[in-house]
Amino acid sequence: MSKQLLLGQTLSFSGDPMRTAWQDVTRHNSTGGVLIEDGTIAAVADGVALREAHPDADITNHGDALICAGFVDAHMHYPQTAMIASWGKQLIDWLNTYTFPEESRFGDRAYADEIAGRTLDIALAHGTTTLTSFCTIHPESVDAFFAAAGARNMAVVAGKTCMDRNAPDALQDTAQTAYDDSKTLLARWHGTGRANYAITPRFSPTSTPDQLAALGALWAEHPDCLMQTHLSEQHPEIAWVRELFPEARDYLDTYEKFGLLGPKGLFGHAIHLGDREIDRLREVDAAVVHCPTSNTFIGSGLFDMSLAASLRVGLATDTGGGSSFSMLRTMAAAYEIGQLRGTALHPSQLMWLASEGSARALHMAGEIGHLGQGATADICVLDLASTAAIAQRAAQAETIWDAIFPTIMMGDDRAIAAVYVAGNPV
Ligand code: GUN
Ligand code: ZN
Repeated sequence: MSKQLLLGQTLSFSGDPMRTAWQDVTRHNSTGGVLIEDGTIAAVADGVALREAHPDADITNHGDALICAGFVDAHMHYPQTAMIASWGKQLIDWLNTYTFPEESRFGDRAYADEIAGRTLDIALAHGTTTLTSFCTIHPESVDAFFAAAGARNMAVVAGKTCMDRNAPDALQDTAQTAYDDSKTLLARWHGTGRANYAITPRFSPTSTPDQLAALGALWAEHPDCLMQTHLSEQHPEIAWVRELFPEARDYLDTYEKFGLLGPKGLFGHAIHLGDREIDRLREVDAAVVHCPTSNTFIGSGLFDMSLAASLRVGLATDTGGGSSFSMLRTMAAAYEIGQLRGTALHPSQLMWLASEGSARALHMAGEIGHLGQGATADICVLDLASTAAIAQRAAQAETIWDAIFPTIMMGDDRAIAAVYVAGNPV
């Protein structure tokens, strides 16, 4: 049995700081330790005590750095890595101008392999150990992503993005091929190593009712899979959905009608929701995913974080609509959007959302995004003084939160001192 002991400051959670006072569920130890046995966290406790109890463990001392759970990105598009930060468009024009031409390239397996590997390596360099990604309509794009994640032993969620209307011909499948391809890919990948398949209709404007129904039927056959899509991101998009589905009660209903609303549903953005939509999401215990850098970059609106008091809420980059691969930058943007809506999220809440909150949205709580016994040792170690600007601010810190917050607001990949995937340093 391999036994490792990481020493440093540790940050862990025993509950949900969006629903309970953060002070009651947050654990910080300035001289902590994380014991890892065969890639799984065996204990998080006082470093000195763990060292004495396990003299046979290989020790890595991270000094003053903060050992926390690896970040979990609950919604992104790996095929958009090469066109991140494209200028000047809002959602529908942005899709047509930048996104669809780039996604058209992913029928080429070699290109898909290159971008999948590049994306996962960039994510790891930013401390993100799990990605939840849309692929493209090409099955090759799904194989490429899961293969690249498997080579890195990363837990990922992904699926073939299905579209059978309102997209270029080269990016359209049909109701039948969407069902058939998704079913084949699901059988190939779901549960293979650390891979999780998500049934993935892009959003209702690019799927006919027939395609939504076919994917709803597939989900009914595989209710253990996640289903990911987009919901209520921008006003012109919502108006378009109303035109395309005149009989639907609201945007959520365009999924609900076709069997695409359930407890393992992941709805990206969910900014402009009506009361019925919120009630239904809560009733079925579905998750919404906040993508703050995307929401400001594409000009979508201000997510209502008070939903996290009663709904599963994940945090995500949404790259390439999002403007950063960094979950630190994503937390900063979530903080800023919270401020614009009148609520200052506490650093503990931001750190929780970026790890355990996202893991909960993915129904993988306790398994990933968690610095605690029984979780896979996907770990991120933060240098809390990674730049001169951050260091001078952190030097005045009186509490751990004063020390972490400058890294959340100003940190980037330079703050990532180490990353472990299933206990292996990367
Ligand atoms: N809605 C439908 N597709 C997309 C996408 O690729 N990115 C974002 N941000 N929203 C979408
Ligand atoms: Zn998206």
